[in-house]
Amino acid sequence: MFKRSLVIALALIAVAGLVVPVTTAQDTPTETPVTLIELSGPAAEPDAELSGLAWYGDTLVLLAENPNLYAGEERAGAIFALDKADILAYLDADAPEPLEPRAVPILGPDIVETVPGFDGFEAIAFVDEAAYLLIEAANDDGTMRGVLVKGAVEPDLAGIALDLEGGVELDAQTDYGNMSYESLLVYGESLVALYEINGADVNPVREGLLFSFDLAPVGSLPLDALEYRLTDATAPDAEGRFWAINYFFPGEDFLLPESDPLAEVYGEGATHAEQPHVERLVELQITDEGIALLDQAPIQLELPGEDARNWEGIARLDERGFLVVTDKYPQTLLGLVPVEAGDPAAGDPAAGEALFAEACAGCHGAEPGAGPALPGMGERAATRVEGMTAAEYLHESIVDPGAYLVEGYQDIMPPTYGDQYSEAELADLVAYLLAQ
Ligand code: HEC
Repeated sequence: MFKRSLVIALALIAVAGLVVPVTTAQDTPTETPVTLIELSGPAAEPDAELSGLAWYGDTLVLLAENPNLYAGEERAGAIFALDKADILAYLDADAPEPLEPRAVPILGPDIVETVPGFDGFEAIAFVDEAAYLLIEAANDDGTMRGVLVKGAVEPDLAGIALDLEGGVELDAQTDYGNMSYESLLVYGESLVALYEINGADVNPVREGLLFSFDLAPVGSLPLDALEYRLTDATAPDAEGRFWAINYFFPGEDFLLPESDPLAEVYGEGATHAEQPHVERLVELQITDEGIALLDQAPIQLELPGEDARNWEGIARLDERGFLVVTDKYPQTLLGLVPVEAGDPAAGDPAAGEALFAEACAGCHGAEPGAGPALPGMGERAATRVEGMTAAEYLHESIVDPGAYLVEGYQDIMPPTYGDQYSEAELADLVAYLLAQ
């Protein structure tokens, strides 16, 4: 992709007639390769056009854009599901067998007949035994609209009975064809629908639309500008933080900004610098004031080559990372975007702060005391042990405090935290300490 700052820098160098060594290594961010999870059965066929992911308890629901393809005598269509235990077993196996998602019947009236211009399911979210689905539909004049519908989940996810007639319509935020609402969040007592394109120039409206659990419109929240496409989001955590898929698919030139603000701040990974497409995850936070992009480097996916991947669904897989899925470009792909212990994506610093105040602050205060002082701990962590990143060092210092003793201190830190805390809680602590 085009990197304006570099061009300006080179132009300045040329003007000044100076020969300045150009160093780029320190600002090339690392990229994360996607670990693929092979699928089999109908969900793996391109026709399914997987378009969203969400957890229903320990079941991962894979939304099919064209559920009507799986209509039968007793059902209006189907979407798909995988058990978390099977996904974890796959990821931990040396030579795993492909996973075959099972069908989850969609019950109710004929979908295509009932929703004029039906173009596909785009997002799904669950609140207890209620399922909410976002539908993309075409109007007669070629513009699009969203339709938010509610369904009742049958025990054991044996089916979802959809009330298609009780749906609420969402006006498109732009006139671009084929653009609609693609993400559905549960925030407090509301559902929030996010539109697909939110670039500064392409969508001046930029708002998340709020609905009650009975589908009554209850307002909107302003959304920060985000270039390219936003195609799905994880469930927000206790602080309202969530991650979303943000990608650029070559050919959609109207979505190309003059410059990409995130790339300007955080740089482009090595494969992104070579390819026209962009595939990354960005972190946002929803509060009563609005939906803001966090001051946080995107997770750039390592691009395997020229074939852009149309990521359409995302869900967290605990502290291991993010599950992501493509529709059918270049083929149906389910994968894990792993996060390392200590990646900001792995932990929630606010939760870490609460744990720290409870268990650690007595020895780690503003000044050195029984243990080293809290201020600067994250910075010092980067320098303590050669070959260890700050996050690795912090993680080890908490679970195995005796492994490296800070000079001048006794080996008195309790060695039990590794048993006491889950990996997710340790990741929260590390995320908090990294910022100190
Ligand atoms: C009883 C006092 C005590 C408690 C409680 C305690 N620590 Fe420590 N901690 C120490 C001491 C002493 C050291 C320095 C010796 C060492 O390296 O083990 C230390 C070192 C550390 C270091 C390395 C700091 C550096 O500058 O390299 C980290 C990180 C750390 N503690 C985190 C924690 C966390 C997180 C908790 C709570 C879950 C915690 N500690 C609870 C006493 C304590």
